Amino acid sequence: MKDLIIIGFGGFGREVDWLAISCGRNVAGFLDDSYEPGIHEGYQVLGRVEQWVNYSACEFVVAVGNPRTRKLIVDKMLTFGDPEFATLVHPSAIMSPSVSVGAGSLICAHCTLTVNFSIGEHTILNMNVAAGHDVVIESFVTVAHLVAISGNVTLEDGVELGTNSAIRQGLTMARGSMLGMGGVMTKNADKNMVYVGSPAKEFKKLEAFPS
Ligand SMILES: CC(C)(COP(=O)(O)OP(=O)(O)OC[C@H]1O[C@@H](n2cnc3c(N)ncnc32)[C@H](O)[C@@H]1OP(=O)(O)O)[C@@H](O)C(=O)NCCC(=O)NCCS
Repeated sequence: MKDLIIIGFGGFGREVDWLAISCGRNVAGFLDDSYEPGIHEGYQVLGRVEQWVNYSACEFVVAVGNPRTRKLIVDKMLTFGDPEFATLVHPSAIMSPSVSVGAGSLICAHCTLTVNFSIGEHTILNMNVAAGHDVVIESFVTVAHLVAISGNVTLEDGVELGTNSAIRQGLTMARGSMLGMGGVMTKNADKNMVYVGSPAKEFKKLEAFPS
């Protein structure tokens, strides 16, 4: 198996280091524009993101929680070549064989995903996400820990769900929308709109999720 490089040396990046090790992967180090190369708190930072080309024999994951930032990083990497992105699924995750997971996506510990379920590229399901049947989660989606997603839900590109939020069955959250922590979504979400509360109400508009 190829060595893995994690893009992003924040707290989530270090969690992904643990996820990768739990998946039996060897982590060669981190790339992050905000840190000097060297050892930081026992972790190896190799250099800036564009230096991925020096490690093209490795696979990569982008461990940055914000969907817009994650997409910008992936798009920047693609301007320099064609990096190979890994898919990491923690061994404690419970998923039927009908769940598909795209390149660059991360499924953390104790997620439970049932049947007829698709997950796009560079999507993150943090710990203890529970999701029902016939769910479509597109690309660059971030689902925080302890989120409940009911059956027949669609999360379009760039959606973000805060910790301990919940979505009623059959709903669609449109591209770039967000539900704040603890929110309960009972209606479809408009593009790039943030919702909070139970039942969730409009809170503020975000910049458009990049195409
Ligand atoms: C919804 C959210 C994006 C708003 O962030 P923000 O724009 O920075 O908002 P602020 O923190 O300035 O709060 C503004 C007001 O909204 C309230 N508010 C913030 N988040 C809220 C939420 N999730 N539910 C209800 N009210 C919320 C605040 O209490 C504050 O109220 P006030 O004006 O009466 O004091 C953010 O609070 C949130 O929920 N983010 C997700 C966090 C999360 O799950 N992280 C996971 C990391 S793994």
